Amino acid sequence: MPKTLKMMRYFRREVDLMRIEKARRIVELPPYLFAAIDKKKIEMRKKGMDLIDLGIGDPDLPTPRPIIERLRKAAENPTHHRYPSYEGMIDFRKAVSRWYERRFGIQLNPETEVLSLIGSKEGIAHIPLAFVNPGDIVLVPSPGYPVYRVSTLFAGGIPYFLPLRKENGFLPNFSEIPKEVAEKAKLLFINYPNNPTSAIAEKSFYEEVVAFANRYRVIVCHDAAYSEVAFDGFHPPSFMEVKGAKEVGIEFHSLSKTFNMTGWRIGFAVGHEEIVSGLGKVKTNVDSGVFQAIQEAGIEALDHFDTPLPEIIDIYEKRRDVLVKGLREVGLKVERPKATFYFWIEVPKGFNSAQFATLLIEQAGIVATPGNGFGDEGEGYIRMAITVDEARIKEAIERLKKIKF
Ligand SMILES: Cc1ncc(COP(=O)(O)O)c(C=O)c1O
Repeated sequence: MPKTLKMMRYFRREVDLMRIEKARRIVELPPYLFAAIDKKKIEMRKKGMDLIDLGIGDPDLPTPRPIIERLRKAAENPTHHRYPSYEGMIDFRKAVSRWYERRFGIQLNPETEVLSLIGSKEGIAHIPLAFVNPGDIVLVPSPGYPVYRVSTLFAGGIPYFLPLRKENGFLPNFSEIPKEVAEKAKLLFINYPNNPTSAIAEKSFYEEVVAFANRYRVIVCHDAAYSEVAFDGFHPPSFMEVKGAKEVGIEFHSLSKTFNMTGWRIGFAVGHEEIVSGLGKVKTNVDSGVFQAIQEAGIEALDHFDTPLPEIIDIYEKRRDVLVKGLREVGLKVERPKATFYFWIEVPKGFNSAQFATLLIEQAGIVATPGNGFGDEGEGYIRMAITVDEARIKEAIERLKKIKF
């Protein structure tokens, strides 16, 4: 046999023998609880079922025209074709400061207290790498946006779950946290208006957060991704509005839900300059910032629209009212959300979250998210998102009326 052929066979055998082993941080990730419903969606679609998907928190409405136009023009500018700066264009950071001042009456130094993000998820996913050492505790709401838990685990941190319960307005109760846990905690994640419960927080709650953070030297990460999706004239406060907040925390914002820009990937973080620079340090090493033409479009959005943006909010309000009425008519227990496009619905007696979500998809073709996918405390709930048009919501209600639970 020619020598080269022999060698090729030898190497192929070596390759065959090589097992691809994933790192423990991936293997040990908590099971993906939405997998079952994703599988069910595929199965039902194959059967020809017309699904009404209320499972996804992704706006169905388009980005406002002037923002798209600004991107189109900015995309022609060759200076934007080069690497952006990791911390964001100073013009974008100045636009963030202007918006903060207009919206919350807060002054920020655009040089040191503002950072652009490739969507707020990116910042949330990276922040523990800047501040959490292996074995440190991170306080994570349950139910909650799953990235808080996973980013903690990726940094070697230990999530300690803070239950969000109905009787406490879905706010964490800090007095329930054991002292030895609080003493070991490095970060605290909070998120209002809240996904998935749609709960809101008043400034008095943020004052409690600041007091807790000072007492135990905990860095507060407030996820304000839904601060501009609020109804009936309500303008959710910023965590930064409370005295002492900027000394202990960082706030994550997103253009995704505010301006229907989920696909554009742009958000920002503001707060204590040491916390902002710590996150920035991680970013210099893992990404190269947001495409500058998108940052220009972001400037257009922040400078030229009032938020919460009435054109978007009016549509969600109408959808919300249709769904609240319909769900109550079929006997489901639900609060009228004051913010976010989510409905946090108690499952009827005799069901758990997964069973009820399965019943809805199998018998009515309605996709809802089982609450336990957001953490153990979400058991007993399902989440619906009003990111489909009013006609589809009405149809979903008609379908619900025909099934028994
Ligand atoms: C609570 C919460 N935070 C952050 C995000 C991330 O949003 P984005 O990365 O688009 O800014 C989401 C997205 O659904 C969310 O629900």
